[in-house]
Amino acid sequence: MPRPIQATIHTNALANNLNRVRGVLQKTPAPSKVWAVVKANAYGHGIEAAVGGFADADGLALLDLDEAVRAREAGWSKPILLLEGPFQMADLRTVGQYQLTPVIHNLEQLTMLREFDGSPLDIYVKIDTGMTRLGFVPANLQQAFDQVDALMREGKVGKIVYMTHFACADQPDGLDDPLRRFAQMASDRPGQWCLSNSAASLMHADQVAVFAAEHGRSLWSRPGICLYGGSPLNDRSASELNLKPAMTLKSELISVKDVAAGQGIGYGHIYVAERSMRVGVVACGYADGYPRHAPTGTPISVNGQMTRILGRVSMDMIMVDLSGVRSAGVGAPVVLWGEGGPPVDQVAQAAGTISYELLSAVTARVPRVVV
Ligand SMILES: Cc1ncc(COP(=O)(O)O)c(C=O)c1O
Repeated sequence: MPRPIQATIHTNALANNLNRVRGVLQKTPAPSKVWAVVKANAYGHGIEAAVGGFADADGLALLDLDEAVRAREAGWSKPILLLEGPFQMADLRTVGQYQLTPVIHNLEQLTMLREFDGSPLDIYVKIDTGMTRLGFVPANLQQAFDQVDALMREGKVGKIVYMTHFACADQPDGLDDPLRRFAQMASDRPGQWCLSNSAASLMHADQVAVFAAEHGRSLWSRPGICLYGGSPLNDRSASELNLKPAMTLKSELISVKDVAAGQGIGYGHIYVAERSMRVGVVACGYADGYPRHAPTGTPISVNGQMTRILGRVSMDMIMVDLSGVRSAGVGAPVVLWGEGGPPVDQVAQAAGTISYELLSAVTARVPRVVV
């Protein structure tokens, strides 16, 4: 018998969330096309599930070549954006073969393009507007543009879209400075623009659209976490944003015991029962991707009732408080997060992290069941 743990992937929730963000973007003065961001195995949900759930997206954005190949093999025929572009020359063969659109963010990648002898490639040129991560900066921008223009003249590059990534999109004025810089660096160049992640799409859609409309540009957006039902905003929950959880991580109790007051529970006895209580053991641990640093009190659902975890998360098991949980014996259903359990954002917050990390960290040994 396999362990009872399972991650159920709800493709209707993926489609609902895509629809939801698209609805927000459509209502603006510059409706945007949507890349569904599916990197990190679709934030842990599986590339194949994403290909089904995001059938209405205009493209998929990811960064591992093998995930791009998997998406094509699963039947995705629309564009695929390679968010970090080629890592080495040999990658461009795969880019050409599978018709991928690489992001170009450094001069080394422009050299690779010059040496590539395949068909012309459409590219995204990434501009660093303050994230200080990937992209051209004022110091090397003109050199990059000169090389891009030469590649176009030589017929090695086709269409170009200019993109940036916001560092503080969840802040009220988080886009003001980056958009100003983007205009300074990219507005002399013809082409579409690709700007917003989830937070920018849900919080600043109008600002971005007005900005693009003023410059006469068509837009692409790149939402990720909101498509999986995680909130990108600190002050608004996923349900307030009408997002549905796309992953339900569930398991069962594999042991139940009565514990006397004063009894330590789990490794290090970091939790000691303050009264006599019933304690359940859940088949889920950090080797499944549940955060080891989740403290006592992290919400969890047992038998449809919300309760809390107790003590230290072990590799394969977590202890839970069954006080007040009706008739929870061995085999009782447990929801770690998702439908019928706590939102993944709440578990993440309790563990001092973000839903992105929890969803993408669910390990390979947890069976994914796509519904
Ligand atoms: C370049 C880029 N675009 C878009 C996204 C999607 O961001 P989010 O999941 O916050 O919507 C990411 C995620 O990290 C990213 O790195």
